[in-house]
Amino acid sequence: MTKHHYQNNQLFLEQVNLEDLASTIKTPFYCYSQRQIEQQYLAYRNNLSGLDALVCYAVKANSNQAVIKLLADLGAGADVVTSGELRRALQAGIPADRIVYSGVAKTRDDIRLALESDILQFNVESINELKLINKVATELNTSARIALRINPDVDAQTHEKISTGKAENKFGIPIQDAPMVYQLAAGMQGIQIQGVDMHIGSQLTRLTPFRTAFELLLELVTDLRAAGHPISHIDVGGGLGINYQEDNGAPTIADYCQQLSELLSDWDGKVIVEPGRSIVAEAGLLVSSVIYIKEGHERTFCILDAAMNDLARPSIYNALHNIIPVNESSESQKYDVVGPVCETGDTFARDYTMARLNEGDLVAFTCVGGYGAVMSSTYNTRQLIPEVLIKDDQYHVIRKRPTYDELIGLDDLPQW
Ligand code: LLP
Repeated sequence: MTKHHYQNNQLFLEQVNLEDLASTIKTPFYCYSQRQIEQQYLAYRNNLSGLDALVCYAVKANSNQAVIKLLADLGAGADVVTSGELRRALQAGIPADRIVYSGVAKTRDDIRLALESDILQFNVESINELKLINKVATELNTSARIALRINPDVDAQTHEKISTGKAENKFGIPIQDAPMVYQLAAGMQGIQIQGVDMHIGSQLTRLTPFRTAFELLLELVTDLRAAGHPISHIDVGGGLGINYQEDNGAPTIADYCQQLSELLSDWDGKVIVEPGRSIVAEAGLLVSSVIYIKEGHERTFCILDAAMNDLARPSIYNALHNIIPVNESSESQKYDVVGPVCETGDTFARDYTMARLNEGDLVAFTCVGGYGAVMSSTYNTRQLIPEVLIKDDQYHVIRKRPTYDELIGLDDLPQW
């Protein structure tokens, strides 16, 4: 269920009229429905109630402090992939004993911070990373609770750039090497074996690849326990996709949790899930204004004030986000919807039929609450855009638009 809807032909997010909001906050801006984020998180928690489960929100999807905080208040844990994200999660109030640390290349500094914070688990990506974690933990006179991230060589059937569970991908330890690496870990003084981990990709719209991978993981757990390793935690990663278009056919959170609960019905330990997109994406809109309608010889361009630097997914993954009018209209027209950045790749949709628009009209991109603002840049010296959190009829700017002075002021001139 999405929390944006029309009322008297006007687009609302929860009870906030977006045209009114755009008269206060200059477009483009992101806005998120707090109620919807809460609802998605609770769908995981409630549908996994039969398991001893911890939902570790993958903060990379939307790492605004206010978003992490509202999930922390509901009891969520966090999956982080950098020490920056670890700091964000801790600062927003996620207890360290609910934080797992994934990511392919943790450095000495990252490992030290995570050990000093006493996080729940390191998801280890390679033998050399395991060795470094052992070294740093030994130096600090402590030990690190670890899971090895297993690469099961399963095709997640998603976009190649966000597929992570094939042997050819840089992620994890090949499943056939896992017993040997656990044996190695068992002999390390600074390492405490705790679990197994996996994450095969993102935006999965089928349950089968999850099932195939989880079954392989469970077989491995049986073997590891038989070999005497104390495996008490299974981390199955994130990856559940959403319906960017109505006909994507993505499973619901309930479907996903049901499959997981079935597969793990005999499991006596803890289960960790790391969803990102499926918690936040549908809750977000990007509100933008039409700067120009440009009639070309072959096409009509609708040029918005939002660009590829604000919402990168279309240019990186050819992703299509629906673009809907803030004021509903019965007339429609075909446009190439583009941003103002000086690249042809700054295109949001081609041959796209939408409401007929005039210069100055407002539109909203849907499903941008995840991997939207976090992937933005200041390319073309464009300012990062504000993020607004909406709850019922209230709104709060949770990240303001930086000034040009702040942006240019980051640069420094050398003395010579
Ligand atoms: N856990 C790990 C170890 C991950 O690498 C990721 C995402 C997640 C969990 C969360 O996955 P989710 O539930 O959000 O699918 N920028 C891309 C998505 C990259 C995902 C990277 N890893 C996009 O815009 O589609």
